[in-house]
Amino acid sequence: MALALAIERSPRSVSVLGATGSVGQSTLDLIGRTPERYRVEALTAHRNVDRLAAAAVRHRARFAAIADPARYRDLKDALSGSGIAVAAGDDGLAEAALRPADWVMAAIVGAAGLGPTLAAVRRSAMVALATKECLVCAGAILMAEVASSGAVLLPVDSEHNAIFQALRGEAAESIERLILTASGGPFRGRSRAAMAAVTPREAVAHPNWDMGAKISVDSATMMNKGLELIEAHHLFGLGQDRIEILVHPESIVHSLVAFRDGSVIAQLGQPDMRIPIAYTLGWPERIAVPTPRLDLAAIGRLSFEAPDHERFPALRLAAAALRQGGTAPTVLNAANEVAVGAFLAGRLGFLDIAALVEAVLAACAGGVAASLDEILQVDAEARRRAGELVRGWSPVRYGNA
Ligand SMILES: NC(=O)c1ccc[n+]([C@@H]2O[C@H](COP(=O)([O-])OP(=O)(O)OC[C@H]3O[C@@H](n4cnc5c(N)ncnc54)[C@H](OP(=O)(O)O)[C@@H]3O)[C@@H](O)[C@H]2O)c1
Repeated sequence: MALALAIERSPRSVSVLGATGSVGQSTLDLIGRTPERYRVEALTAHRNVDRLAAAAVRHRARFAAIADPARYRDLKDALSGSGIAVAAGDDGLAEAALRPADWVMAAIVGAAGLGPTLAAVRRSAMVALATKECLVCAGAILMAEVASSGAVLLPVDSEHNAIFQALRGEAAESIERLILTASGGPFRGRSRAAMAAVTPREAVAHPNWDMGAKISVDSATMMNKGLELIEAHHLFGLGQDRIEILVHPESIVHSLVAFRDGSVIAQLGQPDMRIPIAYTLGWPERIAVPTPRLDLAAIGRLSFEAPDHERFPALRLAAAALRQGGTAPTVLNAANEVAVGAFLAGRLGFLDIAALVEAVLAACAGGVAASLDEILQVDAEARRRAGELVRGWSPVRYGNA
């Protein structure tokens, strides 16, 4: 109660890494609804100068950083006379993460978010983590840094946020298993032969969630659920044999926790990322969120089914990488980022994404990385190998699959 009152008296200082993306914009939408409760310290983007500058001015940020150094001059010009400090490149992103915000939203897509996220963790900030790739790529290192720095890590992914909510006040030894729900993506009912022909436009059109392009493609291949399995393993410290995946097409039950007394606790809500984001933004309080309310009578029925590992091999690859351990998840993540980029650019077919990830996993033999530098080397080598494979790729034929 004392903490909640303190939060109400002084604005919470916040930074948003990846402010121009889907999660970043939803975060700023919430912040903009009660601006008296927040003071925006730093915002970042990759290349989108116009959106970054507009957000920085609107939310009176103190600092804005653009990852692409070639856009520095444009950002500087856009913010000239505003009093907002500007920086670019890796150093600019690091500075954004290091500036003294109480709360940092980590929402840069992909392993590119790892450095800034670690920087915020190391200075013991409260870090709302959307970038699941950080935990897939370097989960052991990131969690060790959280433990040693005393940072508070708040899961933003709706499934992990649901589990986080269900676990509030529960003893670790009472947990039996976690059940991660999955929408099944836009191609849940399609044969592999039909999936071979899908276009990037179809793949990014998720039936329930409005998200960035990369995570939308990950949802379509179901690699997203594989990445989330690895994420859940690190966040909640459970072996993968105690984490199940359950397909739930309506995306209303966001995940569940089964306890040793036979009770199962789930978190439900509309598929709107502002709900889990708000849970982390207000933490430890709940704040008001202007989403349409859940009307179960109107929905009528909720359905569940087992995942199909044959039609969605990415799930099997992610589970195997987690079982193998060491740097296999780092390789999986890097290969997937390259494959999804190539698919979106029209250089790979949809089914080639998982095939390419499998080929890179086979080519980059498993190892162990004890330090962040070693992880980054493995990540770079897997990207190099994946790029090489994309250049010489001949699409696999899936005629009768
Ligand atoms: N969207 C969702 O509903 C959702 C749900 C759960 C988890 N997540 C996770 O949250 C993260 C963000 O997803 P999103 O959908 O918000 O992605 P998004 O819409 O593609 O936005 C990505 C953000 O990261 C920035 N960015 C991209 N590449 C970068 C780089 N190399 N260096 C620095 N910044 C870079 C982008 O800047 P520009 O705009 O300038 O390119 C943008 O601000 C992902 O890890 C995703 O898995 C998303």
